[in-house]
Amino acid sequence: MPTLSPRIQTIVTGADDGWGVQERARGMVAAGRGDVIMLTMGDHDFPTARPIRDACAAALAEGKTGYGSIHGIAPLRELIAERGRAVHGIGIDPATVVVSMGGQAALFAAACAALGPGDEAIVIEPYYATYAQTIRAAGGVPVTVRTSPDDGFQPRAEALAAAIGPRTRMILCNSPNNPSGTVYTRATLEGIAALCREHDLWLVSDEVYHSQVYEAAHLSPASLPGMRERTLIVDSMSKSHAMTGWRAGWLICPDGAVAECVIDLFLTSAYGLAPFIQEAMRAGLAAGDGPEAGIAARYRRRRDRAVSALSRSPRLRIHPPEAAMYVLIDLRHMVRDAERFAYALLEETGVAVMPGDSFGASTAGHIRISLTASEDDLAEACARLARFADTWEEDGQ
Ligand SMILES: Cc1ncc(COP(=O)(O)O)c(C=O)c1O
Repeated sequence: MPTLSPRIQTIVTGADDGWGVQERARGMVAAGRGDVIMLTMGDHDFPTARPIRDACAAALAEGKTGYGSIHGIAPLRELIAERGRAVHGIGIDPATVVVSMGGQAALFAAACAALGPGDEAIVIEPYYATYAQTIRAAGGVPVTVRTSPDDGFQPRAEALAAAIGPRTRMILCNSPNNPSGTVYTRATLEGIAALCREHDLWLVSDEVYHSQVYEAAHLSPASLPGMRERTLIVDSMSKSHAMTGWRAGWLICPDGAVAECVIDLFLTSAYGLAPFIQEAMRAGLAAGDGPEAGIAARYRRRRDRAVSALSRSPRLRIHPPEAAMYVLIDLRHMVRDAERFAYALLEETGVAVMPGDSFGASTAGHIRISLTASEDDLAEACARLARFADTWEEDGQ
């Protein structure tokens, strides 16, 4: 067999492999263990709303089964542009919107648009677990920048500036943030924007959690002065509309010429979303903000319950999330290796969580729970976690 390209062989490195606990939990479920509660992935425990599923079924019944538009059907892009104007605070021409296979393909397209071979992309910690792989898959080199729990995980402009070198071409920014639930302040975003302008960088702004903000207000960096022309906005309906499996996302480009290049990229890969999926997306967006506000309210209630249940344990230090679907728990004062803690928690209590190292070194010694279980299961999982933490002892102490 001929050798594989270095690029495809180095997409995933050992350091990226944070899914072991989830795999072990799945194995336990398959082996018949009945008490497992999965709080690992950011995938909803409830299905997509009926009207969206019905719209998909109707499109299939009408025989809309041919190739879909690669750019995205015009009425869908018009709805995305209209919603985006309110959410991101910028003018959006529907020609600049390209539908994609979830936010993930939009991230890949953005990285391909910004990076030449060997170019560097700054990734702010803690980060969504696929970021480094996405940059490597696009031929780039991820350069991570740490943040601190003591700053509420707001990145400092000095730290970002220190990471910028001659090969830097983009900054990847995710606010509201997974896993921390932090919403970047205006000052943070202005600092990032100033660096992008000064060093002529692209900003890839992943805003997939913008509809789930509980404490602060969402601000898109694209709306800051001089940023519209250098910002690629990643968005999707995965989280806002409980549509993870549909792969329903998009990229908002600075202008139509950039959008045309992204269409060329998708021509070589997905070749467009299925027309029945595009019709379902259209129905979901045509329903206005009500449904996504309902989903956000559900996660807000879960967040409130989980934070209050976990706060009862004297040993669990919570980083209360302002947004999104996760709670980060700081165990640095009692745990040397969060992964070991997560495996032990799973074996003993059946609760599966993500070790913080999966999101970069800034969240080492932390674990993340996803709020993707019913309120009852979540309450039960939090109670088991608190009991386990209260009796945890490190070897050799
Ligand atoms: C920050 C962030 N960006 C992008 C994605 C991927 O979104 P999608 O499921 O639409 O591909 C996720 C999924 O968890 C995420 O947390």
